[in-house]
Amino acid sequence: MPPLFTGKPIVWYEHLNSTNEFAVNQIKKGLVGEGTVYAAYHQPGGRGQRENKWHSEQGENLTFSVIYEPIFLDATEQFYLNMAVCLALVKFLKTDLNIDAKVKWPNDIYVEYDKIAGILIENMLKGQNLSYTVIGIGLNINQDLFDESLRNPTSVKMITGQRFAIEPLLESFLGYLEAEYLLLKALRFADLYERYIQNLLFYNEERLYSAYDDAFTGKITAITPEGKLIIETSTGQKAFGFKEVEFMV
Ligand code: BTN
Repeated sequence: MPPLFTGKPIVWYEHLNSTNEFAVNQIKKGLVGEGTVYAAYHQPGGRGQRENKWHSEQGENLTFSVIYEPIFLDATEQFYLNMAVCLALVKFLKTDLNIDAKVKWPNDIYVEYDKIAGILIENMLKGQNLSYTVIGIGLNINQDLFDESLRNPTSVKMITGQRFAIEPLLESFLGYLEAEYLLLKALRFADLYERYIQNLLFYNEERLYSAYDDAFTGKITAITPEGKLIIETSTGQKAFGFKEVEFMV
């Protein structure tokens, strides 16, 4: 379904240091409304999670930020926004491109063992509620050569063998994102959670993890409402926050 208010407008820039950085500044200046999207063909200072940089070759991939005003969300519910964004990406990849993707907790999008998209969400609070969110997404489309330092990147082209025009893909994706965002706005948390879990990489599979320099096997059995990962091990259940556990893939 085409979106009603997401990507109205989509503002494309030839160069932006970081679309997230730009979006945050525009919000601070009071210059944006709900649904605005900033997209860049070239993003030399792309921000990634854990203070990493996001590398993307000029003109080859989608690098963009979506601004919403989720004032209906309490700060303790913000992980449901991550779920909505992940689910939109998985559904878009499956429906439009026939690519089977999974969510690697908390919010990476993987195809088998390789990362096709990264998400960096920056939330702003007003009191106990969210006021604005900047949803930054890097989705690899046509790039098929990546820096050696990156562990396991992949792209739509590497999977399908085809090149795609990036602008129509962004427009279509925004329809999926808006649909999930509207579910979030209707506070359909259980629905989002169920589908997030169903699409989670290694859910309920015995796998190897590492935490605090200790390797162990266990099964992901749940995610807490705050977004912690629950892993069941031979010695009981453990809850891990972001950055506290690594997947040994
Ligand atoms: C990750 O490390 O996996 C998250 C990467 C997020 C990259 C996107 S690209 C568009 C937006 N602008 C940024 O500076 N970062 C995000």
